Amino acid sequence: MEMVKLRKLSFSNAYSSHSVYSFNYIVYICICLLLFVTNANGFSPTIQLPTSGLFRNTSYLSKTLVLNINDFGAQGDGFTDDTKPCTHAPTAITFHRCKNLKVRNLTTINSQQMHMAFTTCRRVAVSHLNVLAPADSPNTDGIHISASKRVKLTNIIVSTGDDCISIVSNSSRIHMKNIVCGPGHGISIGSLGKANSSAYVQNVSLDGAYLFNTENGLRIKTWQGGSGFARKIKFQNVWMKNVSNPIIIDQYYCDSSSPCPNQTSSVSIDSVSFRNIRGTSATEVAILFACSESFPCRRLYLKNIQLTSASGGITRSFCWEAYGKSSGLIYPAPCISSGEMIIGVNVKSNSTQRHKVDYALL
Ligand SMILES: *[C@@H]1O[C@H](CO)[C@@H](O)[C@H](O)[C@H]1NC(C)=O
Ligand SMILES: *[C@@H]1O[C@H](CO)[C@@H](O)[C@H](O)[C@H]1NC(C)=O
Ligand SMILES: *[C@@H]1O[C@H](CO)[C@@H](O)[C@H](O)[C@H]1NC(C)=O
Ligand SMILES: *[C@@H]1O[C@H](CO)[C@@H](O)[C@H](O)[C@H]1NC(C)=O
Ligand SMILES: *[C@@H]1O[C@H](CO)[C@@H](O)[C@H](O)[C@H]1NC(C)=O
Ligand SMILES: *[C@@H]1O[C@H](CO)[C@@H](O)[C@H](O)[C@H]1NC(C)=O
Repeated sequence: MEMVKLRKLSFSNAYSSHSVYSFNYIVYICICLLLFVTNANGFSPTIQLPTSGLFRNTSYLSKTLVLNINDFGAQGDGFTDDTKPCTHAPTAITFHRCKNLKVRNLTTINSQQMHMAFTTCRRVAVSHLNVLAPADSPNTDGIHISASKRVKLTNIIVSTGDDCISIVSNSSRIHMKNIVCGPGHGISIGSLGKANSSAYVQNVSLDGAYLFNTENGLRIKTWQGGSGFARKIKFQNVWMKNVSNPIIIDQYYCDSSSPCPNQTSSVSIDSVSFRNIRGTSATEVAILFACSESFPCRRLYLKNIQLTSASGGITRSFCWEAYGKSSGLIYPAPCISSGEMIIGVNVKSNSTQRHKVDYALL
């Protein structure tokens, strides 16, 4: 039996030129919530919000509109199961082309797919969100962000069978603060560049997180053959407990059963920092940077890292084509190469070496 617990959904808008959209969303969310609590049978599992619609007159707007599930006859107290009539209630919400949206105080339990997705959104703030799904349920990302700009996620707890938070294609200014994640697949940028596609992700930050029993901790994954970049990414103040792959950049990501051929193009990875990351690793390789030969990772930065083994053994780092620097105490010992060393190996002249020199001269 699935349950949905919805306390309050609040939306505000700031009387901007985009506010007309917000109002449409509110109307749709009203309808959707009504469906949630009254009759979920046959209702589409994902709410798709349209880009234009019923209300064009902005005079209907108030500064802040708060929607309460109580208005639809449910208890909404966080204790009562508001969806008793709905076996298999939809608990996933997709916001498409939203602007100036605030979502807070929302608890969903056990969706069978992504819980909350933002695609092509601008200026979104999500806070006090609680997502729970069984650890063995696939494709149940907590929050998925795609082609969106200026998204703030604060005080989020995610426990699912897939990524806690995933950030993909063409997203920028994504800021995460106080995130609790586990079990699940961790916090992920990517996958990017699948099927030779272009992806541009930049200005992403995470400040304050606790990850436990997750399959990955902080991850960036790209496919061979893509183009574009993932850059200006900061992870800091993260506590990990028994995390497999606590720090991982994988530019050879491939989830098909047959191996993906290596290609000369790749989504490039540049300016990624990891600061104050502590805790335990469930695997020996606690820091893994597997970067592309044609587009090596550049300007990686590690500061104050302590990742010991959860089972009492040792941990180590693995690097392939990973360039940058580190400072402070780092365990396991870092393996990223500095720019100076790159000049030293520039005796051969193939295309890979050329990239390294470019970096060394920056
Ligand atoms: C969130 O919900 C809790 C409990 O229902 C309530 O006490 C609190 O005021 C709500 N916060 C906001 C910002 O709506
Ligand atoms: C990302 O942006 C690029 C360039 O504007 C575009 O070609 C590509 O299709 C976009 N990708 C996605 C998934 O939106
Ligand atoms: C991606 O590009 C490579 C090289 O041009 C080509 O061999 C491959 O078939 C392309 N893959 C897809 C999914 O289009
Ligand atoms: C990224 O952040 C820098 C400042 O750190 C800012 O100058 C730049 O405009 C931002 N770019 C995007 C696409 O948000
Ligand atoms: C640690 O993680 C491993 C791998 O995910 C898992 O098998 C093991 O049960 C976890 N240990 C604890 C104490 O949770
Ligand atoms: C791709 O290149 C990497 C790094 O050289 C290598 O480890 C891997 O085996 C290659 N994969 C394939 C499918 O050739």
